[in-house]
Amino acid sequence: MKKPINGTTMKFVSTLGLLLACAAPLVAFAETNVKQLAQSCTACHGEHGKSLNPVWPNLAGQKRDYLEKQLHDFKSGERKNPIMMPFIQTLSDKDIEALAEYYSQLN
Ligand code: HEC
Repeated sequence: MKKPINGTTMKFVSTLGLLLACAAPLVAFAETNVKQLAQSCTACHGEHGKSLNPVWPNLAGQKRDYLEKQLHDFKSGERKNPIMMPFIQTLSDKDIEALAEYYSQLN
């Protein structure tokens, strides 16, 4: 026999609904945020992660983990490049993760 929906179930369902309603704008915010971050990269790496110049690398479709490692390495100075350095310094670990994810999804 099916159990009737009781108070606890209702509370659970409405809490879930509330959580989802709160999460949606957060996701939208995260997306605009990564696009904003990426704006400082487009001058060299192109709007869609395709570089505009033969000596600047494409980022579109590159492996996520590889991109993340390179960005951390630039930041720590392990990978040295005077052109990249100033654009990486202010990025947090979360920014780096988001940018790596973003560029790996482009093609
Ligand atoms: C002024 C130009 C310029 C800007 C702006 C710039 N980059 Fe770069 N980027 C370069 C150059 C040049 C290299 C190649 C460095 C080298 O030769 O080691 C590079 C390399 C990289 C690499 C390593 C690629 C690989 O294949 O190893 C990543 C990842 C990267 N950039 C991400 C970014 C991100 C993310 C931003 C924005 C926050 C950014 N870059 C902004 C010029 C730029």
